[in-house]
Amino acid sequence: MTEEILETPVESVPVQPLGDWRRTHTCGVLTAADKGAEVCLMGWAQYRRDHGGLIFVDLRDRHGLTQVVFSPEVNQDAHSRARVLRPEFVLAIKGTVRLRPEGMSNPNMTTGEVEVYVTEWKLLNTSKTPPFPIEDRVEAGENLRLQWRYLDLRRRRMTNNLVLRSRVAQSIRRYLSGADFLEVETPFLTKSTPEGARDFLVPSRLNPGHFYALPQSPQLFKQLCMVSGLDRYFQIVRCFRDEDLRADRQPEFTQVDIEMSFVDEAQVMDLAEGLIQSVFRETLGVELPQSFPRMTWDEAMARYGVDKPDTRFGLELQDVTHIVHGSGFKLFASASLVKAMRVPGGEKLTRKEIDELTDFVKIYGAQGLAWIKVRENEWQSPIAKFLSEEERAGLTRELGLVPGDIVFFQAGEFGVVNAALGNLRVHLAEKMGMIPEDAWNFLWVTDFPLYEYDDEEKRFVACHHPFTAPKDGDLETMVANPAAAKARAYDMVLNGNEVGGGSIRIYNADVQRRMFDALGFSREAAESQFGFLIQAFEYGAPPHGGLAFGLDRLIMLMSKSASIRDVIAFPKTQKATCLMTEAPSEVSAKQLRELNLKLRSEEKKA
Ligand code: AMO
Repeated sequence: MTEEILETPVESVPVQPLGDWRRTHTCGVLTAADKGAEVCLMGWAQYRRDHGGLIFVDLRDRHGLTQVVFSPEVNQDAHSRARVLRPEFVLAIKGTVRLRPEGMSNPNMTTGEVEVYVTEWKLLNTSKTPPFPIEDRVEAGENLRLQWRYLDLRRRRMTNNLVLRSRVAQSIRRYLSGADFLEVETPFLTKSTPEGARDFLVPSRLNPGHFYALPQSPQLFKQLCMVSGLDRYFQIVRCFRDEDLRADRQPEFTQVDIEMSFVDEAQVMDLAEGLIQSVFRETLGVELPQSFPRMTWDEAMARYGVDKPDTRFGLELQDVTHIVHGSGFKLFASASLVKAMRVPGGEKLTRKEIDELTDFVKIYGAQGLAWIKVRENEWQSPIAKFLSEEERAGLTRELGLVPGDIVFFQAGEFGVVNAALGNLRVHLAEKMGMIPEDAWNFLWVTDFPLYEYDDEEKRFVACHHPFTAPKDGDLETMVANPAAAKARAYDMVLNGNEVGGGSIRIYNADVQRRMFDALGFSREAAESQFGFLIQAFEYGAPPHGGLAFGLDRLIMLMSKSASIRDVIAFPKTQKATCLMTEAPSEVSAKQLRELNLKLRSEEKKA
């Protein structure tokens, strides 16, 4: 670009109205078959190159790029005016499609064989220089991208994520509507639902001192839809959870929420598989297996240490407690559980790398990380000297040890041992490049525990949610031995991520009351929070069950994005803020007064 042009202030570049110009094509469709066509395109200027008297501009819209050429031989005036063009200027061009000269085609672009010679054009709008170039290759910092999200979304990768998301949503609607599901909307201003996170509260102006809770999921309403006889419900719906955020969590996220009457686990799971298979076929052209493998929670924990196993690679965990229970290594001898993970080829890990892995497992509450490097005729390890011949033989036999391996051990209680080794397994596989890129490993995890112990609250809480039915026969265990009770719950896992979860529900008022008892709710508390649901169960509630997919997570995986934020048009930061609108923000004293609210910080000042 010449200096003279760069110095023209954007504001003084004259723009023209759209008038009666209409697009004939988008910027992503013209091919050699369109040679000679007179077309009208509109979009944003991506690059401008001045070459041998010609000006080339890549014109971009949601659909792609088309190279347009301003030639003085075609239109002198159009050519000289084009010198004003800068990145992100908006223009409309009319022109003729020509084949690019020999050797100038770009096989990586749909439109790579053609260019449009401009006969007339309009500058529709100008643009300041964007804070980062609108290109995929430029990785601007995420905060900058979030602050200028509308520009970030112009980048091809981001646009494509939203295109995929929209296609997936359409595909879901098509499949479920075809399977006789009704799309029903449920309220956002509602009562707290116990999905285990904190609620976002909304004060009620008309009812001072009273609050709505934004739904953590439509769980209660979809069950009430079953009591209403709607039979098959779905909704693509926003859910709100005030919880600590991670790469795969947002405070507001979208579920594909499903509920069905007169069904058991197998029917819900079959429906969910059919839906996912159809979505993958229609949107990615991927043919998934006829049915997804199923694994109980007990087995998942035993073999993988986590309830969402990534089965794209091996490195399974093994219980070696029985081999080392009498060990000279005190930590092993005293532990209720000792598990091992054999890593073929791991012998080459350096001391520094092992130290890094030790720090990694500490995140999960481990004290340290025991290891053995297996070499020809020798075990190199800080703990080898404590192990008897018999223990060595037992470990070699049961773990199938061969020279070149490293074995990692965790000893302690069930939760920490599994969390530490289970997460280490994935961390190491990533580090050692053991995860195949193009695998889609779906899996169901079933038979979850009904409850889990909450160390903070010092009581059992529902593992899924309190409306989940206990396994047949576990009704008595549910009260007598809560730790052993199992749930009719299932999660769908994709490549080590929980993409969906659901259960067969309680539909009997008395069982639901007993569940609340078991969770330590007083009868009054249960009545005041969920009385309407229990009451509904007394009016002919059908047996029912369902599940919900995390749509954002699913799209994140389908688009191979690193973060859930990359598949949400306007996401929040890890601190639950929006850098573009600056939400959340302070409100005026008048608004607070109307809501009958007073801030504690204001109270202190007074
Ligand atoms: P659950 O709580 O397991 O079940 O949620 C269902 C799915 O939603 C996704 N998910 C999230 N995605 C992004 N950000 C979050 N903060 C977040 N939390 C959950 C996950 C998860 O598998 N009402 C039940 C469903 C049912 O029983 O039918 C429910 O909400 O992918």
